[in-house]
Amino acid sequence: SRKGPQASDLLAWYDQHARTLPWRIAPADSQRGIRQDPYKVWLSEIMLQQTTVAAVLPYFQNFTARWPTVSDLALASDDDVRAAWAGLGYYRRAANLHACAKVIADQGGRFPQTAAALKDLPGIGDYTSAAIASIAFCEPVAVVDGNVERVVTRLFRLDTVLPKVKREVTDKVRAMVPDDRPGDFAQATMDLGATICTPKTPACALCPWNESCAAHHAGDMEAYPVKAPK
Ligand code: ADE
Repeated sequence: SRKGPQASDLLAWYDQHARTLPWRIAPADSQRGIRQDPYKVWLSEIMLQQTTVAAVLPYFQNFTARWPTVSDLALASDDDVRAAWAGLGYYRRAANLHACAKVIADQGGRFPQTAAALKDLPGIGDYTSAAIASIAFCEPVAVVDGNVERVVTRLFRLDTVLPKVKREVTDKVRAMVPDDRPGDFAQATMDLGATICTPKTPACALCPWNESCAAHHAGDMEAYPVKAPK
């Protein structure tokens, strides 16, 4: 009987190939129990919504240099935050970001540590709450963005159309999340989707999950995720 995709195989790949990003700590440090700063995780995840890593990098560097903590950001003026965000787009994010910083500063500058509690904050939905809880606080929750939807619909050849398939993807991910490295697992699935399991001509030869990938075996990777007809 063939075994399904193993988190350990993906994590071994991540240990070698994790992208170096300023809000991220190295996999080796993560395994020593060092955690990522929740402020940097939150700020980067808000900036990365609908925006590429390359576009986000200079904005992330500027924000964290200018406002090193969430309480510093809370004390900034609306005009300064708006001006610092200019060029990133989706400006609702900047208003929510500032409102969220004020709520957290009022609570002593400490972020809630569970996805359920994080979801009550301005601008934080299913994806962002799971990402922060997993990456900053080691909660073993499923983190599902567009990259992860592509990876997982291919692994299991899930034929349900977007966005309905998200429920099945979330269940599959939750069953795979390892209790010891949930944040690394979340970031590894996102990196795999961004760099190997790409929308067009995925690099299956380099994928740590190729042997257990149903779409790779069928040769129809690009059919997933299935989109509703226009
Ligand atoms: N895209 C959005 N957040 C990400 C993360 N933490 N790692 C990799 N890709 C991402």
